[in-house]
Amino acid sequence: MRIFVDCDPGIDDALALAYLTAHSDVELVGVGTVFGNNSVDVTTGNALRLLRLYGRPDVPVSRGAGRPLVQPPTLAESVHGANGLGDIDVPEADAVPTTESAAEALVRAARSAPGEVDVLAVGPLTNLALALGLEPELPRLVRRVVVMGGAVRVPGNVTPWAEANTANDPEAAEVVFAAGFDLTLVALDVTMRATAPAAWLDELKTLEGDRACTTSSFLDFYVGWYSKALGERTCAMHDPLAAAVLLDPALATEALEVPVRVELHGTHTRGLTVADLRSNAADDDRPAVRLVTEVDTEAFFTRMMDALR
Ligand code: BDR
Ligand code: CA
Repeated sequence: MRIFVDCDPGIDDALALAYLTAHSDVELVGVGTVFGNNSVDVTTGNALRLLRLYGRPDVPVSRGAGRPLVQPPTLAESVHGANGLGDIDVPEADAVPTTESAAEALVRAARSAPGEVDVLAVGPLTNLALALGLEPELPRLVRRVVVMGGAVRVPGNVTPWAEANTANDPEAAEVVFAAGFDLTLVALDVTMRATAPAAWLDELKTLEGDRACTTSSFLDFYVGWYSKALGERTCAMHDPLAAAVLLDPALATEALEVPVRVELHGTHTRGLTVADLRSNAADDDRPAVRLVTEVDTEAFFTRMMDALR
């Protein structure tokens, strides 16, 4: 499998990279970075450090957008730490970012192997929207896209209605959802039901080696934030769940094919992902996306642990 990852590392982005790098059948053709959990300078440095930590320093990292298409950026230091990785010092990488932007790198990867590259997008969708501007045929050139983003039938996480990746660039998300990609949406609808059990977090602490120990240290910060928010020792596994669904679509045990739009003008609801859930939604002229509504969480947590061993 050839995969281009677009991310804003970020602690759960780190787990997604850990998941993918643990699979020998995954060829990471590139990693693009975007503002989101932190500034794009920080997320780019983190992507390079994480690829070194997870044994893939050879994967090219391309710096992407530093701000959303329209609005000013907001960052998430309270959730991911001032350095985006739970304030854990991760050794700097020798590698440096490529001279291409993330959007250019994605377009090049897609053009060089039409129909073969899958995209995992786990940050604000700014780079994908910019890539569509460079190559309008992108939805036909990539094989499929799995997006972590949105909150369709559940509350948001940064506003009562909006999920962080969508709220961080609603215009970009709207462009991407309209573009006609074979697109799977792993939204808060499922990620907030795949929260890490305390026993799983404890088991992770028994693993040896840098891969597991450093990841477990990032998680301490993230778990601290989620535990306060949810009232129990846990954390959400948004981005690695999307990575796992990309590698094995059967992990998504139920899904709906629905058109999804992003609210751009609502007084209180900007960034809300609005799905057409009517039974005759086929009349809608917006291409449908696959909205995951159930996942096999037990299998996911087993595989996530294996990926950190
Ligand atoms: C998403 O927002 C980011 O903070 C996380 O990394 C994840 O991609 C969850 O809403
Ligand atoms: Ca992310």
